[in-house]
Amino acid sequence: MPMLKIPGHEHQRAREVTLQEIRDVLGDCHLCGLSRTRTNIVFGVGDPHARVVLVGEAPGANEDLQGEPFVGAAGQLLNRMLVEHAGVARKDVYIANVLKCRPPGNRAPAPDETMACSPFLREQIRSIWPDVIVTMGNPATHFVLQTEVGITRLRGHVHRAGHFIVLPTYHPAAVLRDSLKLPDLEYDFDLLGKLLRGETDVEGPTTGDGTTNGGH
Ligand code: URA
Repeated sequence: MPMLKIPGHEHQRAREVTLQEIRDVLGDCHLCGLSRTRTNIVFGVGDPHARVVLVGEAPGANEDLQGEPFVGAAGQLLNRMLVEHAGVARKDVYIANVLKCRPPGNRAPAPDETMACSPFLREQIRSIWPDVIVTMGNPATHFVLQTEVGITRLRGHVHRAGHFIVLPTYHPAAVLRDSLKLPDLEYDFDLLGKLLRGETDVEGPTTGDGTTNGGH
């Protein structure tokens, strides 16, 4: 696969911290109350040298039991989007969540939980140093892009966060709840494939909200 040509982006720079070192620091984390109700910490899975990091919200029931992100129905849809639309296998990307522990009843992450947990995600991304971060749903998108703008407005466009290209899209679970969103999810993973193959220009003019015209 050709490398993306991103000025100032030294792809696969030397890693200062390994994923294992970050996992070791996380340890048997008790930084927030979710440690009392979790079964397993769900750190992340995939290739530590991946060109793509996908970020979800928080583990669900299946993930909590198995200790791996996106292993339930939303994960099946994600795997299909990766292979059929982006042209990459799950094993070749890295998948993580904003929260490493399941909120009871799958409620939304609380601000103090995100504050306690998100530095680990930030370090994971810095360790992997991918070309593209795909944020799935509002919590992941808001954390990575540091915005409160809703996913419906942000998705379908290429954004930037520091050195990284960011592609926000719907959370696969939201698409399972509302199949009218499926064509948009497919569009976004098609766009991911084009970015990875260098088939779309990510150097388009930057718009006011930090998007570029790479997708359109
Ligand atoms: N939803 C998420 O946001 N993350 C998972 O790992 C599973 C479902």
